[in-house]
This record gives sequence, structure tokens and C-alpha cells, in this order.
Amino acid sequence: MNAGYLMHGGDYNPEQWLDMPEILETDIERFLEAKINTVTLGVFSWAKLEPQEGVYRFEWLERIIDRLYENGISVILSTPSGARPHWMADKYPEVLRVNGMRQRNLFGDRHNHCLTSPVYREKVRLIDTQLVKRLGGHPAVKLWHISNEFGGECHCPLCQEAFRNWLRKKYKTIDALNDGWCTTFWSHTYDNFEQVESPSPIGERSIMALQLDWRRFISDQTIDFMESEIAAIRAAGSDKPVTTNLMYKFWDIDYFKMAEKLDIASWDNYPTWHKCEEWETARDTAFWHDVIYSLKKKPFLLMESCPGATNWQSVSKLKKPGMLEAASLQSIAHGADGAMYFQMRKSRGSQEKFHGAVLDHYDGREVRTFREVCATGKMLETLGEVAGARTQANVAVVYDWENHWALEGSCGPRNENMHYMESVEKSWRAFRRMGLNVDIVNQKSSLEQYRIVAAPMQYLFHDGFADRIRKFVENGGTFVLTYWSGVVDENDRCFLGGRPHGLMDVFGLRAEEIDGLYDWEENRICRPENAGTGKIEGLKEQYRCQYLCDLVKPSTAETLMVYGDDFYAGTPALTVNHYGAGKAYYICADAEQSFYDDFYRTLVRESGMTGAYEGEIPEGVEVTSRSGEQADYVFIQNYNRFETQVKLPGGEILFGPADGKLKPLESVVVKRKKAQDAL
Ligand code: GLA
Ligand code: ZN
Repeated sequence: MNAGYLMHGGDYNPEQWLDMPEILETDIERFLEAKINTVTLGVFSWAKLEPQEGVYRFEWLERIIDRLYENGISVILSTPSGARPHWMADKYPEVLRVNGMRQRNLFGDRHNHCLTSPVYREKVRLIDTQLVKRLGGHPAVKLWHISNEFGGECHCPLCQEAFRNWLRKKYKTIDALNDGWCTTFWSHTYDNFEQVESPSPIGERSIMALQLDWRRFISDQTIDFMESEIAAIRAAGSDKPVTTNLMYKFWDIDYFKMAEKLDIASWDNYPTWHKCEEWETARDTAFWHDVIYSLKKKPFLLMESCPGATNWQSVSKLKKPGMLEAASLQSIAHGADGAMYFQMRKSRGSQEKFHGAVLDHYDGREVRTFREVCATGKMLETLGEVAGARTQANVAVVYDWENHWALEGSCGPRNENMHYMESVEKSWRAFRRMGLNVDIVNQKSSLEQYRIVAAPMQYLFHDGFADRIRKFVENGGTFVLTYWSGVVDENDRCFLGGRPHGLMDVFGLRAEEIDGLYDWEENRICRPENAGTGKIEGLKEQYRCQYLCDLVKPSTAETLMVYGDDFYAGTPALTVNHYGAGKAYYICADAEQSFYDDFYRTLVRESGMTGAYEGEIPEGVEVTSRSGEQADYVFIQNYNRFETQVKLPGGEILFGPADGKLKPLESVVVKRKKAQDAL
């Protein structure tokens, strides 16, 4: 869906102001001034749309959509299933969620319904059908927004039965389940599927495969619920694209699987800007932008962000001048086709009355936040031609939801924290420091298009993953695997015969033992004293490493770095094996960031790849590029708290200062015609 412009707008709740029509008129006036071209309606409107069971009221919403349309503003229309009306919970208590202690919620809050409940599903289907029939064909409506921030789990009897059916489908027989889950351990053998219960603080917690399957089930059931909403929309006759708003570092749902069902990925982003260095927050946010882009490998939407200060973080910190523009541009730089807000207007009461918005309770034009929104709107309009352009990556980092669940859920080798995400982000950062675009892929993704793939801590191996790695290396790719990989199968059962399973010949080693380090402990990764081995350019004498140290025994692998301390001092800490036309590297321990920076720099140099920036990128500066049909766009952003001189690539400056002197939070966007100067 390339609208031909970048979307600017956000969640709009006019249902809260129906008795004050003058407010709605002011809204439109302000929206036009701020170059708002899209708003999201209906996210939490169910009680106004269906005030009594089966009694629908759409006229108010239609009037608002008409008014917006007359003013050139498009609509993302949301299904209201993120929060339900009181009458429904009163009449059908089964729609209320049950927690792990088997206690049912009272009515209240939101995002707390049972996603299995046939009643809930039917009520949602009916309202969605009405929504499509009454308003889906409206020319202002461009996109469906399914529900809101899906998440959480329900342990009610209906969910227990659905879980058992999910297991019956997967395992067919109880013997197969017992075998898969290793239930002989502690005599936890099941006699039949009816005995299976979801994990509970007062019940089963020791079967890791049960926990893993429960997480898969919750993820699948949520996706299934979302699909039932999409099916309702399609059945009612709308073929407009669908999205749902995903969240930051959210582990409950396998977003790769969820995104398969969506036309567009979108997400909500609320960084704590100004809490630490701006560049640190920018880096953290950028990683997640890349995850969301990678889900569909095409432009996404920043569905929600805050124009001012949120009211749910520990401290409500205002965005400093220029921050909104920089943060919005960052999403565009990483592949978004729109930067949107929560919320357009602050509500008068209730939980979010102090949450930042485009329009405050005093809604004058001169309000600082509003001026920042106007500046952002102007910038997005200037950069409209970027819409639809892709971010192209030759390198990828593997992040896999199921691996994450299994790795963090297992007892040992470190129950304090395995630091999985940190290890993924370290590799990603090293590539990003060179201005390379990076895809985040999961174990099921095809690897062919990449030159270098980094796969940190792939504890659980999906069927087929080892084969894909083997082929990738055989065909000339460079693959980097780390400690604690290829340990268990899809059921969290340890592979017999050594790790990394299925790849010991590709990596030319076998990992024998793993040492867990206390938080205060460190080891070192050092250049070996023997100059005959350890020939790798660009690495320093030594780096610190922490958390986990894999002890490996090489067969054909060459040792490039060794441990510096402890009883395994002098044994391999970094190895390479030549396999087929490619190279297979194994990093044995979690090293400090500068190791990854130096190591990947060497690999990238060897591969002949270059980023979108000529030379060394100054610290605190972020560089990305998007590739359109006619032109490429290079984005350079200064996240330092001081002016920074950057080298501009040749081309037309679409936005920002022409001399490359970037003030704090300032950015420059350069357009480069394809034929003229390809990247
Ligand atoms: C989430 C929700 C919104 C709103 C914001 C507040 O992203 O989707 O409805 O509550 O948080 O930051
Ligand atoms: Zn339930």
C-alpha cells in the first residue's frame, strides 16, 4: 500500500466529544494546519457503536468520516475489539479473562477478554460486519486496524479445551506428547489429553516443553482470533488492506507468524527520550524499527508515538524541541511510510487525560507541542516521494521468537538472565555502525539474499535450520553462530551427539561444556600468543567477555582468539571454518560491544560491501538508506547533544542543512538518482 505520500496523524477519539461539536470543528482546523492527512477512528468506540446488544449506532461516526473526507483527511478504521461494553461482560461472563491462578477478572480495563470464547468471537464478528457494511466502502477509509495491541493470555476452561485440541492436532496420540515432552521425568506422564492443564503457579511448571507449547498456543490463538476478524471483514465485502498495531519488545506473540496474515506491519513506539544519551535511545528504537520492517520486508507504519510526554512511564518527560521531528524521521529512515500519534486530542478524564496529544485541553495554535507537530507535518510532506521505497539489506541477524521462549524458559545455564536480546542487538549494532541496513530474520527465513548472517544464541533449532545454514555457507556465505546454539529440538529436547547439532562439520568443532558466569565475573577473549594461528585483521589484543563461555573442541576449525582466564585459558574463543565456498565463524562467549564492532567490520571489509556513508560514521550519528524505483534516499541523523559535521553523499538535498553541519537532533536527507550514482 503506497499512498504516494507519508501518513501523518493518529488515534482520534471524537466519540468523547460528541456533545461538544465546536471541538470537532477546531480539530479539523488544527489538523489541516498541521498537515494531518490520516486519522485512526473507532479503536475504543464499541460502547458508542453498539450501546445495547444488537442496537447499532453508526450515524455519528459516519458524520465524522464525512467531515474528515471533505477536508482531505483519510481514515484508518479500527475494529473495536480491544475493549468491550459493560452489557456484554454482564450478560456473558465467559468473555472475561481468567488468570493462571484460575481467577476470572471483573469487568474493567481493556485487552482482557478471552480470545477463545465463542460468544466474544461472535459479538466481534457481528460488530465488524456492521462496520464494514456501513462504513467500509467510504472513500475516506484506506486501511483496517484490527483490534489494539494484542497480547496476554487466558486460562479459562474454554482456553484449556482449545489448548488440548491444539495439542491433539499436533501430537495425535498421548504417547507422542509424553515422548515429546519427556514426561517420564518426575513421573509426570499423562494418561490422556484431558489431564493437560496450562502452566500454573499452583500446578505444572516443570515441563519446559509444556511451557513452550503453551506459549505457541497463546500466540497461535491470538493470531487465529485476529484472522477471524480479518475473515469477517472480507466476508462483509471489504478488500481494503489490514494491519494491527504491534508493540515494542513484545514476546507474547510470534510477530513473524502474525505478520503473515497482515497486509502491512505497524507498531507503537514510546521511547524514553532524554533519559540517557539520545543516541542510545535512538539505537534501541532503530533496532525495533528494523524488526518491524523485516516482518514483511516492506514499508510499515509507525502507528502510535507520543507528540509530547506519555503519562504511563515512571516520569512524564517532555520531548525537547526537535525531538518529535527527529523521532518521526527516524521511523521513515528505517522504512515507515507514515509517522502517527497517540493521540490527536487529550481526553477530559480517565486514565489518559494527561497523555501527550496533538491538541491539549487548551488547544491554541501557539502551543509548543502543536508547533512541533506542524513542523513534523511539513517535513513529512516534503519527503512524500520516499513513500514506498524499500530498505535493502545484504546482512541479516537472526532473531527467533520460539528460540527466545525456549532459551529464557529453560533452567540453566543462567537463570538470572541469558541476555539473548542483548546478544542479538550487539551484532545488529555492529553492522549499523557501518551504516549498513540490517534485516532481522527468523530461523524459517530464506538466507539466500544475504552475504553475512549473524545468528546469536540459537539454542533451539527448528527443523531445517541447520540445513539452510549448511547450504548458505556451502554457496559462499559468511555465517556467524555463537555459543549455546543447536542445543535442543523444537520440543526443547536436547540433541544427542553434540552441538551445534547438525553443523559440527560446517563449523569444524564441537561445543563440549558451557560455563555460566556471575554478573560480576568476566573472562577475556585474546589474540593467541602463537602467531602461527589467530590471523584475523582488525581485532585488538583482547576484549572482555561475560555471562556465558562455551568451551569448544575444534576438529577442522582454525582458532582465531582464545580465552584469557580461568581453567580454560588458551582454549578457543573465536574460530573459523572454511566450508564449501563460504566461511563459518563461531563466537564462544558474549563479548563486549567493541569486539563485535571490530569483528564485523573485518568481515564486511572482506566481503567488499559498503554502507550508505563514505568513511567512518561519527559517533552518535545514524545513517540508513531507502531505495525507491527512481532514486535512493540517504538519511543522516545527529543524536549527539552537540553539533556534528557529517560528510554528505552526492545528490539533491531534500531536507536539512546543505553544509552537513548537524545541530543536535538535526537530520539531512539526500536523494540520489539511481543511474547517476548508485549506492
Ligand atoms: C498504547 C495504546 C493506546 C494508548 C497508548 C498510550 O499504545 O494502543 O491506546 O493507550 O498506549 O501510550
Ligand atoms: Zn479463555
